This record gives sequence, structure tokens and C-alpha cells, in this order.
Amino acid sequence: MIQGGPPLHGEVAISGAKNAAVAIIPAALMVDGVCRLENLPQISDVEMLLTILRELGAGIRHIDKSTVEIDCTDVHFQDAPFELMRKIRASYYLIGAMLGRFGTAKTTMPGGCNFGVRPIDQHIKGMTALGASVLVENGFIYANAGENGLVGAKIYLDKVSVGATMNIMLAACMAKGKTVIENAAREPHIVDLANFLNSMGADIRGAGTDSIRINGVTRLHGGTYTIIPDQIEAGTFMCAAAATGGEVLVKNVIPRHLECISAKLRECGATVEEYGDAVLVRRTGRLRSTNIKTQPYPGFPTDMQPMMGVLLCLAEGTSVISEGIYDNRFKYMDELRRMGAEVQVDGRTAIIEGVGGFHGTNVRACDLRAGAAVVVAGLCAEGKTLVEDIHYIERGYEDFVGKLSGLGADIRRVTDCDPVHGCAAIFCD
Ligand code: EPZ
Repeated sequence: MIQGGPPLHGEVAISGAKNAAVAIIPAALMVDGVCRLENLPQISDVEMLLTILRELGAGIRHIDKSTVEIDCTDVHFQDAPFELMRKIRASYYLIGAMLGRFGTAKTTMPGGCNFGVRPIDQHIKGMTALGASVLVENGFIYANAGENGLVGAKIYLDKVSVGATMNIMLAACMAKGKTVIENAAREPHIVDLANFLNSMGADIRGAGTDSIRINGVTRLHGGTYTIIPDQIEAGTFMCAAAATGGEVLVKNVIPRHLECISAKLRECGATVEEYGDAVLVRRTGRLRSTNIKTQPYPGFPTDMQPMMGVLLCLAEGTSVISEGIYDNRFKYMDELRRMGAEVQVDGRTAIIEGVGGFHGTNVRACDLRAGAAVVVAGLCAEGKTLVEDIHYIERGYEDFVGKLSGLGADIRRVTDCDPVHGCAAIFCD
């Protein structure tokens, strides 16, 4: 429940990157020893992956709220909890990790936010190129490396894909010989996965460029690794500060990862000052319209598109958003229309006429980032906004309500969500 109005003021500390954590946890499956992961975000996608690893025989020890030790010395190939795997997109990383560790894999077709078809043909192309046979049947993916195990190959991705790039990197790091991934994705979390694997003994070069070279090794040893800060969580709070007309110091960030977001916020009339590990976002004047095209990194991230959509609905003039990654990532605009937004959506394009403000009402979180967007809209709205289906938000934002309250937002939870099994009974505090 959100009572809109007060601009956000104060400081907020950003947690570890979800899209790095959900690849690094499956990667721990390949390590013959103990991995100590620090700066893990406390989100349900992380909880689910730790539960899946535990069911595969891994030892999981929580050291503190953001540090966990994973010991996969004794894991063995067996069926994983498919009902959990089906719920998250990142379960596909188990294919690469299981193939790398066991030479065989069985997972479900991945779940994840629904904004159009999200195929995994490039993942399968990569695994096949490494010598695995892959079968997709009845919602399951079976992969087998055969008696020779995986053998390095040159792989050209037909499409820039974060998941395929990371999944192939996982499978290739213990394949025999050299693998080259061309047309690779360059997101910060891809570099983070490569750095994690290298700190465990892998030999990966070029992560962060569109050509990644991997020399297979025979074993990965244990060690300690700290996850990078979450680029999208940081961008979400930067957008919320600009949308509410406040002043927020967003801490524990890598400003270089936020450059495209900072640039767009400046175009909209906000000021963004960059420090070593923080950015200060402030907006006093009117929000100005601009245009957004989402692209693979270092372009404007598609995951920031919904939060920028909220800002542009409140900006003076006409703005155009072109969604370059997904077919159908404007469902949240239906919810914003209920709050007073004026927007026309046609496939991958949204044309927005800025309005003076939103009015509060009941809205839903259609997916993870759409949920964050309607919360930001509620913060700016006149009156009360009730956001339902907040389990989507819990998948990717640690303590979203607590962090926003700490910035002066009038927001409270009126349901209790179990991190793994979704919302339980509703109660009002
Ligand atoms: C990752 O999804 C992120 N999820 C998404 O973040 C993010 O939107 C996306 O990358 C793009 O940055 C995780 O990391 C868990 P892709 P992923 O493979 O790997 C097509 C969030 O909000 N494609 O880069 O699934 C695909 O349909 C989530 O945190 C193929 O055609 O994205 C899409 O149009 C939402 N074949 C485009 O490529 C494939 O084999 C990019 O997808 C794979 C992808």
C-alpha cells in the first residue's frame, strides 16, 4: 500500500546483482570445494537456486544475510526439484553447470517473466557445438556430453544473448581445448561470472567484449567471491528519485555500469553526480520528454525500460520508447493507464503523451520490473495505490519496501510473501 506524494530523500545501499548471482550460484556446482559468495542479494530467485543446489546434494551454509558458503564436493547427478526450476528463467544455467560437472543434464524449460516468446535456441546451439546432444521433450531439456566429454569449439551467436553467453561459458570452462564465443553479450554480470570462474581456476579472457576466449581446465577449486552491485536495482532507485522530484544518494554502485541510465535521466532534467561508488540523483524542475531505445549493453538496458516509462509518462511533451529486445514488454502500461497515463502501444513501440500526474488506484505487478515501475508510479501518485502480486518484485529486489521507507516513502506491505512459495495469507499490520 503506497500513499503517494513525498519526494524521496536520503541514502540507499544497493544489494548484489540478481543477474550475476543467479548464474554464479549454478556455477558453484562445478567447483570441487567450498565457494564463499559475498554480497548475495536476499531475493527469492537466489533462495530458489540455493534450494535447488541443496536438493542436488550441495552443502549450503548461511554465514550472514548476504554471505553463503556452497560446498558441491559431494553433489551427484540426480533429478532436481523441477517445480522450482520451472519458476525461474535462470534454471537454464543448470544445463551448462551440470554438463560441465556431470557430463549430463536434465532441467525443465525455464520460467521467468512473461513478455513474449523467450526461446533458448542459442543455448542449445552452443551446447551442441561443444559436442553435447540436446533433446527438448515434454517441457524438459536433456543434455549429454557423450563419452568424450565436452570439446571446445568456435561458436557464433546468431543473436546477442546474455543467457546463452553465460551458459556456454559455464559448459566450456571445463571442456577439452579452446572455445571462442563470437557476438557475445557484454553485460556487467557476464564479466562478473567470468571473474568468479577465473577466481576458481578457470581460464576465460575477453568477457565484456563481443568475443570471449575460454581454455578448458580439468578442475575448479574453491574460493571466495564478492558479487558486483545490481545495475538495475540502482537504476530503479535513480528513476524513483527523479520521478518523485527528490534527492537520493545511491550507494554501493559502479557508476560506469550506470552511464546510459545517468545520461537518460539528465536528458529528462535530473542532475546526476558520480562519485567513486555512489551516484547522487536530484530533480527540481519539470521532467522533460526524451526517447528511449533499449539495446544490449552498453546500450540502454531493457530491464530499465518500465521504470523510465513511468518517468516519461510524467514528463512534459511526447516521448517514444522502442523496445529492442522483447516482443511484448509494455504490459505495465495498462496499469499506468489506470493511474492516468496517456500512452499508445504498438508492438515494440510506445508513444507517450506526458500528463501532469497520476492518481492512486489498485494495480498489479505483471512481472518483476513492471512491478517496480508501478511502485514508482504509486510514489508519485495523488492518493493511495495498492500494488498486488508483489511476489514478482520480491524475486529481484531485496527489502524494496524497507529501502523505500528509508527514503521517506509512505509504503507498507499488507501481505506476507514466502520467498520460495509465493504469497501466503493476507493480513493488515
Ligand atoms: C537475461 O535474460 C536477464 N535475466 C533478463 O532480465 C534481461 O532482460 C535479459 O537478459 C536481457 O538483458 C537473467 O539474467 C536471469 P537474453 P535472458 O538471452 O538471458 C532472445 C530481469 O528483469 N533469445 O539476453 O533470457 C530473447 O528472446 C530479467 O532481471 C533467443 O532468441 O535474455 C530476447 O529477445 C528480465 N534465443 C533476446 O534474445 C536464445 O537462445 C535477449 O535475450 C536466447 C535469447
